[in-house]
Amino acid sequence: MRTSSSTRITTAAVAAAFSLFLLIVCGGPQASASPAGGAGSGVTVTAADRTEALQIFKTRCAVCHGQEGRGNGPASVALNPKPQDYHSKAWQKATSDATIEKAIVEGGTAVGKSAAMAPNPDLKDKPGVVVALKDLIRQFGKAGSGE
Ligand code: HEC
Repeated sequence: MRTSSSTRITTAAVAAAFSLFLLIVCGGPQASASPAGGAGSGVTVTAADRTEALQIFKTRCAVCHGQEGRGNGPASVALNPKPQDYHSKAWQKATSDATIEKAIVEGGTAVGKSAAMAPNPDLKDKPGVVVALKDLIRQFGKAGSGE
């Protein structure tokens, strides 16, 4: 009895984790809520935007921020201050959507942070991708294990 009920719980947990994963990876156009009213509020985020954002994160951001957004990518070693660890609950709480989106497009100096956080001017005319990147960063924060 004990074994079978804990198996059920495990299965449910796995299913829940998997749906969350699908939501992050495939999140449709409706999943673009931007509650804190960032620059991207009202922006429609398409599935293509989310795919592009994920691609950009892996190829451009992860070198510093790490594939899992912990601020420990290979290039982080040489940096001071370190790239932001998105899992930090304190940082997630203190930082608005607008600030995240601005830092992505205009770089660290635009939000009073390190110039090592480079601007991404090519994303200025891709607001859907910027909001999708911001959502990705928020998801890392929800993944837990931050302080
Ligand atoms: C060359 C290394 C580097 C790359 C590449 C990089 N970042 Fe950063 N990023 C940093 C550093 C360093 C900080 C911390 C700045 C500070 O705390 O002063 C930072 C901070 C941030 C912040 C926090 C801003 C805030 O207001 O606290 C966000 C959001 C961010 N980066 C997103 C991104 C995204 C998205 C990409 C890819 C498009 C990216 N970064 C690429 C180095 C980098």
